Amino acid sequence: MSTLVTGIGELTTNDPELGRMRDAALVLDGDRVAWVGPAAGAPSADERVDVGGRAVLPGWVDSHTHLVFAGDRTEEFESRMAGRPYAAGGIATTVAATRAASDAELEEGLRRHVAEAVAQGTTCLETKTGYGLTVEEELRAARLAARWVDEVTFLGAHLVPPGADADGYLALVSGEMLDAVAPHVRWADVFCEEGAFDEAGSRRVLEAARSRGLGLRVHGNQLGRGPGVRLAVELGAASVDHCTHLSDADVAALAGSGTVATLLPACDLSTRQPLPPARALLDAGAEVALASNCNPGSSYTTSMAFAVTTAVLQMRLTVEEAVRAATAGGARALRRTDVGHLGVGARADVHVLNAPSTTHLAYRPGVPLTWAVWRRGVRER
Ligand code: NIG
Repeated sequence: MSTLVTGIGELTTNDPELGRMRDAALVLDGDRVAWVGPAAGAPSADERVDVGGRAVLPGWVDSHTHLVFAGDRTEEFESRMAGRPYAAGGIATTVAATRAASDAELEEGLRRHVAEAVAQGTTCLETKTGYGLTVEEELRAARLAARWVDEVTFLGAHLVPPGADADGYLALVSGEMLDAVAPHVRWADVFCEEGAFDEAGSRRVLEAARSRGLGLRVHGNQLGRGPGVRLAVELGAASVDHCTHLSDADVAALAGSGTVATLLPACDLSTRQPLPPARALLDAGAEVALASNCNPGSSYTTSMAFAVTTAVLQMRLTVEEAVRAATAGGARALRRTDVGHLGVGARADVHVLNAPSTTHLAYRPGVPLTWAVWRRGVRER
């Protein structure tokens, strides 16, 4: 089944040859983009959808979420808004609720949050384990997540569970737990931060994961300047996520590396942190991604548009840079070449805005602009 999407007022392709086009059309064939070009020269297809001059872009690639969870942390959020600082320890609240939930309850949460994201234009999602923190619970989280998202990351090194011995837990995460979960995930991550895992512990987990063939990601420099970015770059991680507190040396290290700096502005706002130095990263030549960090503690939103709007209005990215970071940047952070662009052969992940240009994402902040979504060639909205 092929679909001609025509009447595109502005088409963001993220394809170096095609760039941004006006009066364009696309042909989707099965789950792939089969043709892209000027509307006047479009071939015929089984069906035709005229989007009436609206803007079309690749679906959002949300490369950082924590969707396998149960429970609610409204009270913690309220106390933060009243002045209490965010701390890693809050994770334990969600661990207790998640362990107490049935598979069906966790799957219902995954289904609901993925559907919420897709309805807002997200077509490729990563999610992490990390609210189980036992061998059985982390394995359960990885298996459930794999049914609902494109990429799964093992985050047994999210927190030393309350009451556990730190050295013993580190041995478990980098040994038995990793061995059990590795066949079900592509990535491993560590929360390298005060109150979670220090540099030596983080290195141990990441090296063990790498020796099992997993790709690496790091939660780094979220709550203060620390070793996370340096370690991620040294170990060739695909991304280091948060990057809120960076030294000049961190920025330079990222710029000279293949590690993507994944920025999570909704989290920074929700935890009353400063926003990350996105402009400095881009100006230095670093690759930047934007992601939602959807989780019940530090960033309870699935909205990639919110990240893009914030990046433009408050972090001084251009609309083009922010949209690219939330599409092609996310794909790069996940080391994927099939998503985040709309060149021929790309996955048929298409987002149509109810607006004539992507500029409206910043010009009309907070307005739900998603008009249509195709995911793997299937019309979802
Ligand atoms: O990316 N920083 C560590 N992990 C999550 C928050 C988890 C939580 O507070 O439940 C994050 O912000």
